[in-house]
Parts: sequence; C-alpha cells; structure tokens
Amino acid sequence: MQFRTRAIHVGQERDPQTGAVVRPIYLATTFVQQQAGESVEFDYSRSGNPTRKALETSLAQLEGGFGGLAFASGMSATHCVMLLLESGDHVVAGTDVYGGTYRVLHKIVNRAGIGVSLAPTTDLDAVRRAITPRTRLLWVESPGNPLLSISDLAGCAKLAKEHGLLMAVDNTFATPALTRPIELGADIVMHSATKYIGGHSDVLGGALVARDREIFDRLYYTQNATGGVMAPLESYLCSRGLKTLELRVREQSKTAQRLAEYLAGDRRVRRVYYPGLASHPGHELAARQMDGAFGAMLSFEVEGALEEAKKVVQSTRLFQLAVSLGAVESLIEQPATMSHSSYDRKDRLAHGISDSLIRASIGLEAFDDLRDDLDQALRCVG
Ligand SMILES: Cc1ncc(COP(=O)(O)O)c(C=O)c1O
Repeated sequence: MQFRTRAIHVGQERDPQTGAVVRPIYLATTFVQQQAGESVEFDYSRSGNPTRKALETSLAQLEGGFGGLAFASGMSATHCVMLLLESGDHVVAGTDVYGGTYRVLHKIVNRAGIGVSLAPTTDLDAVRRAITPRTRLLWVESPGNPLLSISDLAGCAKLAKEHGLLMAVDNTFATPALTRPIELGADIVMHSATKYIGGHSDVLGGALVARDREIFDRLYYTQNATGGVMAPLESYLCSRGLKTLELRVREQSKTAQRLAEYLAGDRRVRRVYYPGLASHPGHELAARQMDGAFGAMLSFEVEGALEEAKKVVQSTRLFQLAVSLGAVESLIEQPATMSHSSYDRKDRLAHGISDSLIRASIGLEAFDDLRDDLDQALRCVG
C-alpha cells in the first residue's frame, strides 16, 4: 500500500465493538485487571493508552521503524533520547538544529556531565573530526532549522555505525511523507508532532520511532519512567493529522517552491535558503534523499540587518508573526529574536543564522495571496 493509503488505515482500524469508523478517544487513566499482577496490554495510561497506541503504530509504520512512542512535546521526545546517555558520554549534534535542541544540550544535558560538540552535519569529514572515543550519539536535522541545510543521512548513518554511535534524526521538517531516515540507516527518528503531524496549530506533541526492538525497549523504559507522554486528545488529533499529512506537505511544498523562486528574483532579498532551488548547496542531495518535493519551510535574508528584518516580519498581513511551523496557515518569524534566541549570539552568527534572516512556514493558502503579502511587506526594505 502506498504512503497515503497506509496513513489512513494502518493503526486506525475501525472500532471492533461498535464498528465506528473512527475509534473512540480513551480518556481512562487506569484499566481493570482480571487478576492481581496479571500482565495486560494496558494497565495505566502513562505506560500505555489505546488512543496513543493507535498513533504510535501508525507513525512507526509510516517511518518504517519497529515501534513508536508519543510524547507531550517534541522537546520531551528529544530529552528522552538524551536520557539514554550517561555521565562522561559525548554527543555530536548538527549546527543547523532547532534552538530548543541546542538549549537542552547546552543547558540541561551538559549538567549530567555529558559533553556536547556541534558540527556541520552537511560535511561528513567535520562530523568524523567531532567524534571522540566518548561519543555515543549523533543528532542530525535535515532539512536543518532555520537554514534548510541538507545532510547526507545515509552517509551520517554509515559514520555512526563505524563508530558504534546511535544516530537520531529530527525529521520534523521533512516528515515521513518526504524522508524516511530509518530506511537510510538511522536508529531513531524524532518529531515535533506540534508541526506537520498535527498540522493545524492546535496540538502540542512529540514522537520517537525506533529502528529495532532493542532501541525501542530502552526508549520505552525511559519514557515510562520519566512520564512525558502524549495525552489522549492530542493523540487523537495527531492520528487525524497523519491522514492528510502527505497531501498537505506536497501541496505546501509546491507553494514553497514557487515562493522561493519568486524571492530569489527579488532585489530586496539578499539570499534565499530553500533546497528546491538549484542554487542551494544541498539541492542534488535533497533531490535524491527527499521524495519528490523539498518541504514547505524556507528562509531568506533581506537587505539590511536585525531592524529591517524585524520590520518585514511585522508587516505581513496573511503570514502570521509566530514561532512554530508546519500548519495550514502560513507563519513568519525572525530566528535571531524568536525561534533561535536561546543560542549564544556568537554561536548563532558563527553558524550562519544572521540577524537579517527570516524564516517562513508555508501553509495551504493560495500562492498569489502569499506572494502579494510578501511583496507588500518587503516594501519596508526598499
Ligand atoms: C525542528 C524542531 N524540532 C523540535 C522542536 C521542538 O518541538 P516542541 O515545540 O513540540 O517541543 C521544534 C519546535 O519548534 C522544531 O521546529
């Protein structure tokens, strides 16, 4: 079965008791056991819940992994992976990663005596140089946030394997509709389900998918022990979101491609970051690694600096000035002051996230309306 068919049917079978085409939302926190100490599939909702399980099953098969786990947020999913590490271990993470991932590594995970190095995961030699005998985890985001850099996931996985590392991929931007990192050799896929999986800016959630039973069991144990699980209503909304994921992502990507081309030809724009543009350094790799589209996120730098970019993001009418991404409505933001403000400024600039950078999440509105909106907002820079 093709992706969009599986997205609708697998893990989402009708309710056997009533025949309801959409399963009920199980709000119960505890489940009756026939005998004391009996081992049952569901006993307590932190350990397992039928509505959450449906989402986990569905997501695991869409990502091509052994099993899935749904979390209260993307960050709780990320943290769960970090909790597999021990004092003295070391992580190599990409330079182009979500600001919150940078923060949890540098402000929380490091407190447990875990070393962190950032390396451009677009450059396999740089990743190799960053690996030490203590490295246990390689964390990659592709396309990266906010520069839309493209990392060679199969190459990174090979490197991770050679050094005995776990490789985790934040697949939030690409979604399994466009990239399936486990097929390329990754061990763990992470999602902020708040984004494309939910798809409507009304649910906060995260997810992990593990390649095999051994990794799944370690993650499940950690999740159950620490408790950052997704609630039933959110699980239901994410399952519903998955059913239209591919359609949304493909349509949004088409509009993003056209907007990127439009911006690339505008003299008020200094540079456009979109993997679908032939001028993007990762274009050819993305064409091989991504499934027929380049995603619906794009970034661009305007002529000027922090203040000019700020004026542009404050002048759009259709694009809403807000962090987050991946929903049906288009959003715009300034990474320097918003999504990536938790970076040290020096690190941020060193990683190419300039003050004049603007990030846009392209929604399902019509191309002409979005183009006209950007055109009028860009008048503040010329
Ligand atoms: C790429 C990426 N990863 C992780 C996260 C964190 O997810 P959440 O906000 O659901 O905790 C985000 C949130 O913006 C993100 O964009």
